[in-house]
Amino acid sequence: MQSAALDRLATPPSERDIIRGTKALRTYNCRHVRWLYILSVYTHILLATFWIGGMIFLSFVLLPAIRKPEYARYYHRLVNDTGVNFSRLGWWALGLFFITGLYQLHVRGIEWYDLFKLKTYTTPTGRLVGLKLSFYTAILILQALHDFFVGPRATRLGDEAPDSPEYRRYKAYARTIGMLVFFLSLSMALFGVMIVRGGFKV
Ligand code: HEM
Repeated sequence: MQSAALDRLATPPSERDIIRGTKALRTYNCRHVRWLYILSVYTHILLATFWIGGMIFLSFVLLPAIRKPEYARYYHRLVNDTGVNFSRLGWWALGLFFITGLYQLHVRGIEWYDLFKLKTYTTPTGRLVGLKLSFYTAILILQALHDFFVGPRATRLGDEAPDSPEYRRYKAYARTIGMLVFFLSLSMALFGVMIVRGGFKV
């Protein structure tokens, strides 16, 4: 790498660089707004930790552990009960993502009514916001399909006909939806990190 490029990486960005091209700097100078903004971003990051971390825990820690033959009788019940608990908290998290996300957009100079204007999506930040909102909508739809239709149906089939092909099919649907939500959520986190660091320009 050229030494000038290395120098640039080693130099911390100025405040202006960080909040480049937005109205944020103006509001950021007010102490109360700055603290509210910090609290909002902190909450947003904790929610992402809970949401993505919870999915990783369920799929890579809990499910492999209870897939042992000695738990076979209780498997779908355990999956259902932990899934229901996680999804109840998950809906709160999805709501809070929206509230904190909208506030952070406001600090960055994008108001809720700007989201209905095509012009908003022509800037590097705007494009990422567009992606975030599209992915968010997809997550809401998939999660609702999972929690209100596929999940309960798989649990019922697990109780009534655990050896049926239909049960296996619904389990596969639930797994596919879960994976899609997981990858969409990982992308949302990446888009968030990119918004803060200047979008596609960097
Ligand atoms: C409607 C939903 C959402 C909106 C409107 C939204 C909006 C935003 C905005 C504006 C930022 C920049 C924050 C700042 O000013 O520092 C951001 C950052 C971020 N968002 Fe979201 N977000 C949403 C949902 C999500 C979801 C579902 C996730 C994760 C699963 C997520 C993860 C993150 C992360 C990790 C950051 C980076 C924070 C940083 O690097 O400092 N967001 N989001």
